[in-house]
Amino acid sequence: MSKPVFVLNGANLNLLGVREPAIYGAETLADICRRTEARAHALGLKVDFRQTNSEGTLVDWLQEARERAVGIVLNAGAYTHTSIAILDALNAAELPVIELHLSNVFRREPFRHNSYVSPAAQGLICGFGPKGYELAIEAMADLIARPAGRSGQPARG
Ligand code: DQA
Repeated sequence: MSKPVFVLNGANLNLLGVREPAIYGAETLADICRRTEARAHALGLKVDFRQTNSEGTLVDWLQEARERAVGIVLNAGAYTHTSIAILDALNAAELPVIELHLSNVFRREPFRHNSYVSPAAQGLICGFGPKGYELAIEAMADLIARPAGRSGQPARG
């Protein structure tokens, strides 16, 4: 059985569809899960799509990913901007990581410009709404096909 890509969602993302739709759009997390799974299926990948409001649960899932996943797509929500524990868990996972946000965090409040996820990520996708989940799966398919070296950068050439 091939391992899945873990697509992990943090705080308040269970409220998508009703939460600040002008910023986050009208799709629910279930809608986004469906489009993520469809894109992954088309690319021959499996996904394990999850959401939690708990920072500790996210850390537990990142530890689980080390053994059970081929890569991690992470929208940590507000924990992105606060959680050293999540950064440590991402580094410990030793897997390709893509940081994801629905909104363009750099067009928003200054406190959203810092990310504790970015130092552990191969790349960042933000500002494309739900479509970003599909873009992240496409980027992950490339990273898996062309594994990163220990430096965390994709192999050259
Ligand atoms: C978010 C951006 C974060 O700043 C915010 O706290 C969220 C959602 C996004 O997907 O745009 O909860 O990660």
